[in-house]
Amino acid sequence: MNDAVAEGKTMGLVYRLLLRPLLVLQDSERAHTRSVRSLRLLTSNRVTKYLISLVYKTRKTLPVTLFGTEYKHPFGLAAGMDKKGEAINGWDSLGLSFVEIGGVTMLEQTGNPKPRMFRSTSNKALINRMGFNNPGSENMHENLTKHFDKYGKPKIPIWVNLGKSKLTENADAHMDYSTTLGKLWEFTDVFVINVSSPNTPNLRDLQGEEELKKIINSCLEVNESKSMDYQLPPKPILIKIAPDMTFEQLEQIITVAMDSGCAGVVATNTTVSRDFDLVEDAKLGEKGGLSGLPLKTTSTEFIKHIYRFTDGKFPIIGVGGIMDADDAWEKITAGASLIQAYSGFVFEGPSLASSIVRGLDRKLRDSGIKDLEQAVGLIHKESN
Ligand SMILES: Cc1cc2nc3c(=O)[nH]c(=O)nc-3n(C[C@H](O)[C@H](O)[C@H](O)COP(=O)(O)O)c2cc1C
Repeated sequence: MNDAVAEGKTMGLVYRLLLRPLLVLQDSERAHTRSVRSLRLLTSNRVTKYLISLVYKTRKTLPVTLFGTEYKHPFGLAAGMDKKGEAINGWDSLGLSFVEIGGVTMLEQTGNPKPRMFRSTSNKALINRMGFNNPGSENMHENLTKHFDKYGKPKIPIWVNLGKSKLTENADAHMDYSTTLGKLWEFTDVFVINVSSPNTPNLRDLQGEEELKKIINSCLEVNESKSMDYQLPPKPILIKIAPDMTFEQLEQIITVAMDSGCAGVVATNTTVSRDFDLVEDAKLGEKGGLSGLPLKTTSTEFIKHIYRFTDGKFPIIGVGGIMDADDAWEKITAGASLIQAYSGFVFEGPSLASSIVRGLDRKLRDSGIKDLEQAVGLIHKESN
């Protein structure tokens, strides 16, 4: 074990034993805001950025090529953690291979009244009803312009999660999504259409066939025109789905997404269900979307179903309850080409990426598989 790896392990332990108990004492959203802001500050200075990379960044690579881009390993940051795209330098230093910023809506929004984010540590779960608090597409354009001017293009791919402004009626949702896509096109590697957050009234209705087609078509049109303006290839557009539906509904959505020209699917968003084997906790009574460990199995079942339904031909990004390398392996072998986490960072700390990459590397060696791409959907191949 080299020094940096040993240090990474120690930092994970330090986080769990010392920092996490301190963070638990703070209001959940405030602790989150402070953590992202500290990461931004620490990684805007070259020396501290280098030191953070030294401790947290793994040198191991497990390359995955998807949408024509090589990802150094499959693990990225899920949407919602960096809603303003304020710590872009930091995520690379923590060893992530890509980051999904946002959700960004066309209009600036403050979101729902606080408190709106709750932690159930005994269940390794979060409940949130943020309601797309974000700077809006115009301000986001400005933030990213400043960032790119100062630091250049980020080292890791930047994905943008597209939400719908609360003020925009569902009938005009297509215009809201595609306006944001157009505004942020030049900075973005991949767009994710989010029609699955449970905290914007009626947003999930947009997962219906007609509504979804309209949104995807409108985004594809703007994508095509920006691609011509910049003389660059169009960006991959993915769809992010909720876990609260039947497999029949899921198949309908996947069919629409594939037929309309989406490049893949992110499975899944948070769940409104509380029908899990949970340790009793008053926080679980809060309204909102549940994420973290209790969501893990449902999200993996969705991934398995999509992989089987599409014969592994529609790229899946797996998210929901990934806390360690075993969970990551479960998602990949179920059919996910790339994976993401949000809650895992809250409960396991900033060394999550390096410990997952190290663990995946070990799993590959133990199973005698040469590269990670061969592990994608492995359970389906083994059962044939
Ligand atoms: C506080 C919070 C805010 C979130 N905001 C967004 C968002 O804006 N857009 C989105 O698509 N997903 C959002 N998510 C969902 C996550 O991206 C992810 O799909 C979900 O939390 C499951 O992953 P996890 O179990 O690793 O947290 C949010 C999650 C949390 C906890």
